[in-house]
Amino acid sequence: MLSLRLLYMPLEVVVLISPGYTDKPRQKEAEPAFKFIGNVHGDEPVGREVLMHLANWLCDNYLKDPLATLIVENMHLHILPTMNPDGFALRWRGNANDIDLNRDFPDQFFSANNDINSRQPETRAIMNWVKQEHFTASASLHGGALVANYPWDGTRDTGKHYYGCPDDKTFRHMASVYSQSHYNMSLSKEFEGGITNGAFWYPIYGGMQDWNYIHGGCFELTLEISDTKWPKAAELPVIWEHNRMSMLNLLASLIKSGVHGRIFAADTGRPIPGLVMIKGIDSKVRASRAFGDYHRIIVPGKKYEVMASMEGFRSKSTHIVLEQEAVSLDFILDPDGVDGQMKLLRSDYDCRCDNDKMFHVREAHLWLYLLVVCGILALYLVFKRKAASRLLAFRYSPRRPVAV
Ligand SMILES: *[C@@H]1O[C@H](CO)[C@@H](O)[C@H](O)[C@H]1NC(C)=O
Ligand SMILES: [Zn+2]
Repeated sequence: MLSLRLLYMPLEVVVLISPGYTDKPRQKEAEPAFKFIGNVHGDEPVGREVLMHLANWLCDNYLKDPLATLIVENMHLHILPTMNPDGFALRWRGNANDIDLNRDFPDQFFSANNDINSRQPETRAIMNWVKQEHFTASASLHGGALVANYPWDGTRDTGKHYYGCPDDKTFRHMASVYSQSHYNMSLSKEFEGGITNGAFWYPIYGGMQDWNYIHGGCFELTLEISDTKWPKAAELPVIWEHNRMSMLNLLASLIKSGVHGRIFAADTGRPIPGLVMIKGIDSKVRASRAFGDYHRIIVPGKKYEVMASMEGFRSKSTHIVLEQEAVSLDFILDPDGVDGQMKLLRSDYDCRCDNDKMFHVREAHLWLYLLVVCGILALYLVFKRKAASRLLAFRYSPRRPVAV
């Protein structure tokens, strides 16, 4: 089922609606989460229109269209059509206080925004949201250009030049997924391939994108989706059509590529919120507290060494070959100080799988497997030939995640 989730921001006039698109509303699951944020700048309304189209499209096409179904069933999608309704009402860039919200976040190079008391309510609400949810990636929508912008947005020396973050390749890949799926973004004459490093275009400080990556472990793009800030209303359905496959493919790529798994404590068997690193990339992605699940976006078609660590546990690492499909990789970490050899629980590594089903398999951890197997066995014994075959048709092809 789809549900609407309301997010109230601590400001009377600002009530934001964020439909949480999932087949299990209000429940946390071991799935990647994505957020789309529109209308950060009040005078860039195209994003909020396109996001309403996206919400409607997902509702209309769930269980009809394979992409809609894949997205609803395998990820948590949060849609915030407007981050700046006051600015929209005033038809200007900033919020009601005339502050540019995309300059109001704490910055890695400049401390101007570090005073929590002067932070705008909209900014504070987004920061709390990011701390509360376990977002894997996100995109904010802007207008006035046609390009997919990725970190860093600012440079240390304030100069206008390319300034890549540790995940530069990952971001170039993500941004390209968007631009290549777009009607004509990749044909841009101004931006090669329709993508740009933020600081190379023009450096900004206090932006939302860099803050998400640094403090939320959330890979955020800034998408400029329309050359015109205020196109005619009749053009909005066309702009939605131009962006539709980009939005859907960006979401689907989170599910169908990258490295995903869970981290468990060897002694208790419980999930733990460990850190996942890729050798050679100086960034960390944290597993969730609730399920120990992590989701690492990474460029496909390469070999990687994936490491998991957690305070109080011994780190482990393993090599993987990431093809075009997603890889499931679970870690079982031994508590520090416990003697005995590190046990590598590694089953045969296999990338091939039924794309649409694989995330169910990842979620279904061992006890669930046992439960399902026992359940099927019991039912089989009860109903013998007749019922058993019918029930088995519901089960997905079992593809066990690799456990390290
Ligand atoms: C993309 O198409 C739109 C609508 O036809 C047009 O206005 C715009 O100039 C095109 N942009 C590029 C980069 O081709
Ligand atoms: Zn903007």
